[in-house]
Amino acid sequence: MSCCSVVSAALCVIEPVLMNLTPSSMCTPLKTLNVSLSHRRRYMKHNFPINYTIRVHQKEVFKLSNISRMGLDELVLQRLWFQVNQGVLKKIIRVMPDRHPSRPYAAELERRFRDAEGVFVQSHPAEVFQQELPETIQNIWDCLTEEPDRVPQSSWRLVSPKSLLDNFCQTMYCLFSQCFTSEEEEQNRECKEEQNRECSHFLLLLMYFYFFALKYLLEPLSDHGYSCRVSGLLSGRADVWTL
Ligand SMILES: *[C@@H]1O[C@H](CO)[C@@H](O)[C@H](O)[C@H]1NC(C)=O
Ligand SMILES: *[C@@H]1O[C@H](CO)[C@@H](O)[C@H](O)[C@H]1NC(C)=O
Ligand SMILES: *[C@@H]1O[C@H](CO)[C@@H](O)[C@H](O)[C@H]1NC(C)=O
Repeated sequence: MSCCSVVSAALCVIEPVLMNLTPSSMCTPLKTLNVSLSHRRRYMKHNFPINYTIRVHQKEVFKLSNISRMGLDELVLQRLWFQVNQGVLKKIIRVMPDRHPSRPYAAELERRFRDAEGVFVQSHPAEVFQQELPETIQNIWDCLTEEPDRVPQSSWRLVSPKSLLDNFCQTMYCLFSQCFTSEEEEQNRECKEEQNRECSHFLLLLMYFYFFALKYLLEPLSDHGYSCRVSGLLSGRADVWTL
């Protein structure tokens, strides 16, 4: 087993600790936002025509699956979350005439989102926001701030307002998981699964490696009993990791 693998296995174990960076002051505004989001079906589905969609940039489709693909720097992903959803809310509001029955709801959602963003900015040192973004994130940022007429046709997606807010909400539970522990266990489980998928695959490989190594080592010693038991134990263990 190479040194690198051992190091990355160790990182897999340490990562969840490193990721818990959300300042507790964030929780109050996020929970207030969560209250608004809990009415999203009523205001973002029932008050709209059936199958109604909004044209958004493909980068504004920011789901749980994107989070795992992008790597694990939670703070950068939180910044991206604010950037993406600011645009999403703006686009949702833009399609509603002043007297649309969901307009006050959307305006309140945006206000609460701004409040959360304000606390987010205040609760980190200014240098955090001056740091250069990783290239992949910077590219997304550039796409999002591109003049709409310069965005190629192929980069637009048609998405319902309700599913945009579903993404908004699920990624919030994931990226600010410390504020949403017990209530959103289901969501958080999904989120952690996404984040740990790569780690699990790796640990699984490691388990199999040891399984075969042990099997190979013990085979010559036994008249079966012992090595069978060890193999059974180990394969049982490996099944746990696949869950
Ligand atoms: C977030 O909203 C959901 C309803 O959509 C609720 O079940 C949950 O308790 C809320 N979580 C927090 C931490 O306020
Ligand atoms: C809405 O979309 C669903 C699934 O794409 C489709 O089966 C249904 O016919 C659509 N309804 C209307 C009214 O267009
Ligand atoms: C998330 O993934 C989808 C599909 O792979 C992609 O189209 C979208 O641009 C991604 N979103 C972000 C913010 O990268």
